[in-house]
Amino acid sequence: MFFAFVAFVVAAVLTCEFFYLRSLIDRVLGFWGLDTQKRKIKIIKYSVMAVIMGMSAFVFTVPGLWALHTVIIAGATDLICLLFRLIFKKGARVCRFIACSAIIPVVLGTAAIVYGYINMHSVVGTEYTVKTEKALTRGYKIAFLSDLHYGVSLDMEELKKACDAINEQQPDLFLLGGDIVDESTPKDELNQVFATLGGVKSTFGTYFVYGNHDNMGFAGDRADFTKSELENAITQAGITILEDQVVEITPELVLVGRRDASFRGDEKAKSRASIEELTKEIDRSKYILLLDHQPRELALDKKAGVDLVLSGHTHAGQLFPAESLTTVIAPNDLAYGHAIDGDFNAIVSSGIAGWGFPIKTSRYAEYLIVTVEG
Ligand SMILES: [Fe+2]
Repeated sequence: MFFAFVAFVVAAVLTCEFFYLRSLIDRVLGFWGLDTQKRKIKIIKYSVMAVIMGMSAFVFTVPGLWALHTVIIAGATDLICLLFRLIFKKGARVCRFIACSAIIPVVLGTAAIVYGYINMHSVVGTEYTVKTEKALTRGYKIAFLSDLHYGVSLDMEELKKACDAINEQQPDLFLLGGDIVDESTPKDELNQVFATLGGVKSTFGTYFVYGNHDNMGFAGDRADFTKSELENAITQAGITILEDQVVEITPELVLVGRRDASFRGDEKAKSRASIEELTKEIDRSKYILLLDHQPRELALDKKAGVDLVLSGHTHAGQLFPAESLTTVIAPNDLAYGHAIDGDFNAIVSSGIAGWGFPIKTSRYAEYLIVTVEG
């Protein structure tokens, strides 16, 4: 269903783009003094169109994203100029320059892609403080990292740098929120990815839940490694995998790690336990921390007595302004950030990287440092 929707959107965008591009290139060539009726100029025109349409067809690539951004910005500037002239009845020369020279769309489209590339490689640590009424004997500093999708953008040096920064924070707990690897991760680097993450030191250890990509359900046969190779890489790095399991971190702090909501890897995976089932034996005087890749059942989590949910998955849309789409076309309850409802807290990270292409224009590439204070 999701892929059918994406295919429909891409086809619709490409059709609109074809007709718009034909008129835009005519205008641009005319503006720069070229006769669009001449055969040579026509060849140039259709060649440029073919190149841009070809780039756009591969929308989940850097050239495809550049073409898409540039054409959308051209359309937006056209619309702004049209409205300006209709409302103010002036500015014909300036508007003609903006709408016909193509300088603004090309510059802004290129700037968006360059910014997105730099932003995705500029990992930051985002800090949150969460208060609780529960009687904790100490505070807990939790480091959270998700959506690395190793192989898309960050290389090993950049990952090590991020892990060094997390180590400097001296966390009590290090949580990996899924989609650490995916179908783009080279098999020969799988062990090194988890060995690097396993090198983060924390008081109570490192725990991992699967996401929809690294669980093999999404990657399927395209993944470069098998599920058992993935599990071995994780566990050999000293990382504990949680699949609908509850761990008592301390007598006052309980961690629940859920199987991913779209896990499709094997028979048992069809039966993701409900949050009610998972929490029914937990003493509610304890602080209940939930690690769930997709932030899609927050109301149920609250009702079940969970105090804090940490999730990733949305990438905050990855591309501006798609953030809100992650809750409209996908069943996520929160696109990004910190939601507070009484004593219940949910925090969704934009992820340390993203899927498919090394461009991120929505939010920072981040890991989280969450301090829980009693
Ligand atoms: Fe995901």
